[in-house]
Amino acid sequence: MQSIDKKYVYINTIGCQMNVYDSEQMIQHLEPMGYTASPSFEKADLIIVNTCTIRAKAEQKAFSFLGRLAKIKEKKPDMIIGVGGCIAQQEGRNILERAPFLDLVFGTHAIQRLPKHIEKITSKRCRIVDVEMASEIEELEFEKSIIPMQSAEGVSRFVTIMRGCDNYCTYCMVPYVRGREMSRDPEIIVKEARMLVASGVKEIFLLGQNVNSYGKKEGLCSFHELLSRINGIEGLLRIRFTTSHPKDLTEDLMRSFADLDRLCHHIHLPVQSGSNDVLKRMNRRYTKEVYIEKINQIRNICPEIAITSDIIVGFPGETENDFKQTLELLQLIEYDGLFAFQYSDRPNASASGFPNKISETIKQDRLNELLEFQGRITKKRNRALIGTIQEVLVEGFSKKETKNSPARKDPDYQLTGRTSTNKIVNFVCDDTSMNYRTMIGQIASVRIEKAFPHSLWGKLDRIDLTLTKIKGEESYAA
Ligand code: SAH
Ligand code: SF4
Ligand code: F3S
Repeated sequence: MQSIDKKYVYINTIGCQMNVYDSEQMIQHLEPMGYTASPSFEKADLIIVNTCTIRAKAEQKAFSFLGRLAKIKEKKPDMIIGVGGCIAQQEGRNILERAPFLDLVFGTHAIQRLPKHIEKITSKRCRIVDVEMASEIEELEFEKSIIPMQSAEGVSRFVTIMRGCDNYCTYCMVPYVRGREMSRDPEIIVKEARMLVASGVKEIFLLGQNVNSYGKKEGLCSFHELLSRINGIEGLLRIRFTTSHPKDLTEDLMRSFADLDRLCHHIHLPVQSGSNDVLKRMNRRYTKEVYIEKINQIRNICPEIAITSDIIVGFPGETENDFKQTLELLQLIEYDGLFAFQYSDRPNASASGFPNKISETIKQDRLNELLEFQGRITKKRNRALIGTIQEVLVEGFSKKETKNSPARKDPDYQLTGRTSTNKIVNFVCDDTSMNYRTMIGQIASVRIEKAFPHSLWGKLDRIDLTLTKIKGEESYAA
């Protein structure tokens, strides 16, 4: 057997959490070939750009990074450069023309074939394009393509539970670049989550474009059943998931927020617009009224739940009145946080052929107005938490000391984590004899003293051992 040379791979991940998971998968697949992930691209033998095509801006970001790589490749011709992810799937061979220095273009369903391609490129110095997609009957292929994580660092880890999307919202590229919706076997998901927890992970973040329809097509268990099985994993402190499509949000799933003790009290439920006309043209398949009803229902079941959303401004044909209705909806619902985007024309997505496109200036004005409007709401909701004690899962040390924190110079001093409602909390502790490092991965009770637009600030109240002590594990107090 040939000895394996140690080589470095650098992956630049652009886009959503699914790309983050896929990048980890790429590393899992490359490790047996001797590759180790490198934090910088200077010493890399292989560079991969894992791309996103959701909006034109994400595409520009990928191509500007590729522009930088062209110069590096001139100096290091042996270095292999590959483009993966959603632009690779969309553009295929065309990318080779735009970036002639590329060695590999591989789509969203080709990750498991990465080692084979790299081997061929290394030995034959050829260029490869692989954008083949698995068909619906090839579900097993999907399962085989994922190498469950054996161990992991960090407090929170993503686990993809399904891929693709069947919804065809008229603005969206995802169905075209990720393919048909396919769910993973619950047994394997639970096994993967268990392994992560055994290696020290405290929070599992389940991913899918529409988790509410998990398992339906394949006749697997429902999403709330999957949650309930993961909730039973000993040692796991928290479960999160994203994204939920409002049309598929069931009462059973809503009840999970009250019934499952580890499920975090946060739901990301993208509404996209507050106008029924726009929603119809977006093919979202719910009305504003149905959406509001679901929000009321979920707040009845779990009153403290935090709700966040996505909004697109300037969808083709969006009138001033449509936009006003979106603001009214924000006022009514009072989201805890919002991601807002200017509508971006995408190839394949049917809205790119819709009439009455909105000018860039109007889109920018509407976005600014909406962000300012929501900013006031978020501030109000965050301020309401001042004086309360929040349970924070400690993720690590906070990098930047906010100007309002005590004037201590030690950068390791301030800890950071999230509440169950997904609010970032930076906090300090008066007891300077404490070994802060042991608090990472534990749940700390923090008294909130200040609220900022995107985070809270507080002081450690206590570490709740009943929540954090895990059988056989050394606890903070020990
Ligand atoms: N599956 C998720 C969303 C995935 S994409 C869902 O259905 O909610 C994330 C967000 O990007 C979307 O919610 C939408 O707000 C935004 N988005 C998608 N396509 C877009 C486009 N063409 N222009 C602007 N924003 C877009
Ligand atoms: Fe895109 Fe709609 Fe599918 Fe979300 S549900 S990924 S917005 S097509
Ligand atoms: Fe982007 Fe692909 Fe995710 S288009 S948002 S990386 S599914």
